[in-house]
Amino acid sequence: MNFDFTQLDDEDRYRLLTNFVGPRPIALVSTIDEAGRHNAAPMSFFNVFSHEPPIVILGIQPREGGQPKDTVANLRRSGEFVVHMVDMAIARAMLVTGRDLPPGEDEIALAGLTAVAAQQVKAPRIAESPCAMECRVEQIIDYPRRAIILGRVVEMFVRDDCLDAKQRYVNPRIYQPIARLHADNYVTSDRQIILQDLADVGSE
Ligand SMILES: Cc1cc2nc3c(=O)[nH]c(=O)nc-3n(C[C@H](O)[C@H](O)[C@H](O)COP(=O)(O)O)c2cc1C
Repeated sequence: MNFDFTQLDDEDRYRLLTNFVGPRPIALVSTIDEAGRHNAAPMSFFNVFSHEPPIVILGIQPREGGQPKDTVANLRRSGEFVVHMVDMAIARAMLVTGRDLPPGEDEIALAGLTAVAAQQVKAPRIAESPCAMECRVEQIIDYPRRAIILGRVVEMFVRDDCLDAKQRYVNPRIYQPIARLHADNYVTSDRQIILQDLADVGSE
C-alpha cells in the first residue's frame, strides 16, 4: 500500500511515521526556566546526526492550543539543555516527566529523580540516567507544527559501569537503553545480536 504524503492530513502522517520508523531512542530532556526552575520531558523525535560537529536533534511540537512546550520555551531562552538516555530503571519516571504540567512544575522531582549540577550548562543532569549529553542550542528550524532543534554536545556523562574495562566502548550487558515503537509500545536493548555472525555465508 502506498500513502501519498502530499494528500494525507497531519494525524495520518504522524501515525505512519511513528508506527513504522522505529525504534526511536528516547531523549529525556532537562532545561531550566527564567527563574532557574527545573523542567524535564521525554522526546522520541531524537537522534544523533553528527560527531564533527557533535550534533543531536530533537523535534518538538507545540501543545494542542499552539503554545510552545516548556522544553522549547526554556531552551530558546537559555540556549541550553541536557539529553538523558533512558533505561528500564528509569522508564516509569520518564513517563511521569511526560505529563503535561504547567510551566514551573519540576517534573524531575515529581518523578522521584535526582537533579545534580551539570558540568558546562545550567540545566541539571538527572543522576539516575546512565548517559547524559550537555548541549548548547546550535540552530532551531521552525515549522508551524514542529521546532527542529539542533544541539551541540559540549559534555557527555557515562556511568562508569556502562563502559568496558578500557573505558572506550559500551558495556552492552549493563547499558541497555529503551526506545519507542508505536503508541505506548517500547523495546529494551536486552537481546542484542552481532549481525556479523549471520553474515558467515560466503562473500557476495
Ligand atoms: C516516550 C515519549 C516520547 C515523546 N516524544 C515527543 C517528541 O518527540 N516531541 C514532542 O513534542 N513531544 C513528545 N512527547 C510528549 C512530551 O514529552 C509532552 O508533551 C511533555 O508534557 C512536554 O513537556 P514540557 O512542556 O515540559 O516540555 C513524548 C512523550 C513520551 C512519553
